[in-house]
Amino acid sequence: MCGIIGYSGHRPAIPAIVEGLHRLEYRGYDSAGVAFQYGDALRVIRAEGKLGALDQKIAGLDIASSVCGIGHTRWATHGLPVERNAHPHMDPGNGFALVHNGIIENYAELKADLVAHGHSFRSETDTEVLVHLIAQGAEQTDNVLQAIHWALQRVEGTYAFALISREHPGKIWASRKASPLLLGLGLGEHFIASDIPAFLPYTRDVVFLDNDEIVEIDAHSWQVFDAATLEPKSKEVRHISWDVQAAQKDGYKHFMLKEIFEQPKVIRDCLAGRIREGQVSLPEAENLDMPQRLTIVACGTSFHAGLWAKYLLESWARIPVQVEIASEFRYRDTVFLPGDLVLTISQSGETADTLAAIRIARDAGVPILGLCNVVGSSIARESDHVIYTQAGPEISVASTKAMCSQMIVLVLLTLYWCQRKNMLTRDELAARLDQLTSVPSILESALPALRDQAQNLCLDYADARSFFFLGRGLYFPLALEGALKLKEISYIHAEGYAAGEMKHGPIALVDAHFPTFALAVHDELLPKVASNLQEVQARGGRIIALMNASAPLTVTSPWILPDVWGAFKSFMVLPAVQLFAYEMAVYLGKDVDQPRNLAKSVTVE
Ligand code: G6P
Repeated sequence: MCGIIGYSGHRPAIPAIVEGLHRLEYRGYDSAGVAFQYGDALRVIRAEGKLGALDQKIAGLDIASSVCGIGHTRWATHGLPVERNAHPHMDPGNGFALVHNGIIENYAELKADLVAHGHSFRSETDTEVLVHLIAQGAEQTDNVLQAIHWALQRVEGTYAFALISREHPGKIWASRKASPLLLGLGLGEHFIASDIPAFLPYTRDVVFLDNDEIVEIDAHSWQVFDAATLEPKSKEVRHISWDVQAAQKDGYKHFMLKEIFEQPKVIRDCLAGRIREGQVSLPEAENLDMPQRLTIVACGTSFHAGLWAKYLLESWARIPVQVEIASEFRYRDTVFLPGDLVLTISQSGETADTLAAIRIARDAGVPILGLCNVVGSSIARESDHVIYTQAGPEISVASTKAMCSQMIVLVLLTLYWCQRKNMLTRDELAARLDQLTSVPSILESALPALRDQAQNLCLDYADARSFFFLGRGLYFPLALEGALKLKEISYIHAEGYAAGEMKHGPIALVDAHFPTFALAVHDELLPKVASNLQEVQARGGRIIALMNASAPLTVTSPWILPDVWGAFKSFMVLPAVQLFAYEMAVYLGKDVDQPRNLAKSVTVE
């Protein structure tokens, strides 16, 4: 939710900042802006809409001499997505400009107090309150660090912000609480940003800021301070292995398509080094006691990965599992039991609700295992144990390869626990791991045909206003995911349903204009799914069905998948539903990588 960036260095700041904003645009894209030193003043340029509008405003301006500035791409929380609410915001004296990601929860009372002291406001945002407050702090001291410290003592909520001051050219201050913020260290240049891709073309040396820290940078120096005491802190510099290419489209029309096609590689990367001599090697889980019960907490697509894993964990490893939506979990009075383990799943590692769930578990003394894609993210750092899912940067707002990587790691974790509990013989385990390692090459060969089939189906189904996605067992969570993907990017209403539950109400909706997308692969539940599809057909419903040649069904649009072993059929079903949503969105002319109203990383409640 919102991307922020700051740059201080030797090159023209605004092109570097705007380029960084383009790489952060997945975090929000309803308006954008930059602020920088211009002569003796601070100058702010903002535009409503996607970054292209800001690009146009900036093009042709003589601003190359500016070597320090901040930028923002917004996902609105408070105030309409219009130019006056776009960041950066300034204080009444135009001495400071600030960009912010998060929510200042007590902004209304702070604002009332500031208004009582004669401040007038130019926007409806919570953010403007923060910059006014810092300016108020600065009235008592010309030390900006002290002014920020003073303001932050009055602020409640979540934030990552970056600030520049008219009186201190070349300097940027930034701080975070619960929203992500990193420092990028280049040669004679320093960056502050919400995420690594923002500065990836310039440096891979990163400092992850922790909550309640303030950083001060200029082109040649940086220092982190404890926000409460203003004592300097030493921080570890980490070298990131991501390369620029990983964060680019690489000839694909959309990031989403590229990321779908990357899944064979992602699976290989996830498995690399984790299978040794027919056994699972997961050092990250070695110090964990065998859980007596597992509570999986996640949001969105990651939640679906958790739901999917429940079937495997229960049936293979015989571990009781409950899977919770983080935004519900955090406000329930959950009963924890001795032997519990909380497993959080998150691509970004920054989802606010999932982070809150971690804190609840921690306060209850329950150990936490985090499954995360983004190295050094908040969830990774706040979990007791972390397994990285190795999917590389996922840029498209609709998550695809991240779910695939989560599922692979969850298979490994399940087999690892089977191993520890001696649930499988050595040969059975080795055979299952062999089947798993064969998945990437089968998928690689299958992807072009899957895409062709998805394209063809769009022609027949693009007129549908609603879809059911049906499945049973492992394929119920994947049906939920298929429906979510279609909703997210094509804006076609879709409901994922457990196929057996249809007859308890939803089947009333079925008619010739309300098609069903069935996940009807060849497993032990197929006869049951087939009966449920008969019920749909009997009511005139058209059906697309993913199936295997070994157990074909007679439906309107059969879609034959390559056959792979047992549960691993899921790794064919997942890209098929992703490609169906993708091709539908492309066919309907939707903005695939940046669907309306969404943001990739949801750092607010
Ligand atoms: C947002 C994204 C989804 C993602 C969800 C959870 O809603 O648009 O694609 O699944 O957040 O994100 P996480 O980073 O925690 O997996």
